[in-house]
Amino acid sequence: MRTFSIAGVAYQLCSFSTFCVLSVNVFGVQDAPKKPERLTANAVYGTPKIDGEIDDAWKNATAVEVKRIVKSETSVADAEVATGTVKLLWDKDNLYALWQVKDSKLSAKSDNPYEQDSIEFFVDELNERAGVYQKDDAQYRVSYEGKISGAGEGFKEENIKAVAKKIDGGYLIEMSAKLSFAKREGGTKMGLELQINDDPNTGARAGVTKWNHTENDSYQSTSDFGTVLLQAKSE
Ligand code: BGC
Ligand code: CA
Repeated sequence: MRTFSIAGVAYQLCSFSTFCVLSVNVFGVQDAPKKPERLTANAVYGTPKIDGEIDDAWKNATAVEVKRIVKSETSVADAEVATGTVKLLWDKDNLYALWQVKDSKLSAKSDNPYEQDSIEFFVDELNERAGVYQKDDAQYRVSYEGKISGAGEGFKEENIKAVAKKIDGGYLIEMSAKLSFAKREGGTKMGLELQINDDPNTGARAGVTKWNHTENDSYQSTSDFGTVLLQAKSE
């Protein structure tokens, strides 16, 4: 079947004597590039001890992968960028995360915490997906050496506990972030984003991977976070 275009209108010869209009693009407007599908992670009910040892509580949780490359922040080859897996738990006080990051060259040379090998945990407790940070939104960061930093209206340093440990081929971080606004019950959904910053030992960040959104905007806007779903406690 033949397709041709006149003045931005695509036609197709549908049968012997009829034309079909396939698409009209008179103003040259292109479809916006498709955003990657918004991901959901399950958080299972349970309380780990934040000490860098992998408690039994983590056995019930399934891992999500932080491996979508943020192109604007990445100058090394895709295969070189640090990636990781994250498991999530919740209880009446906290959301918990266990990170296992693959990063062969560990560095905290930069004075900027986000340029050190580190993870970032972004939470929008009320799942409002606002374009700016509000009181229930926080950005938490933990370096591979366990140094805590963060920002956003809802960020309070006393709300995060984290322990970091070197493991084969990278590092592990076990952390908790206090919940103050979300309902702590099965079925609750919150906005969540996960990010890994990678310095290939040059003193500057040369790679960023994220769980959900592939732009470097999570520290400013919660609108493209993924979703975390609290699973009901099992009886
Ligand atoms: C971003 C950096 C930004 C920093 C601010 C990070 O998540 O990747 O580009 O400067 O947050 O805290
Ligand atoms: Ca590194």
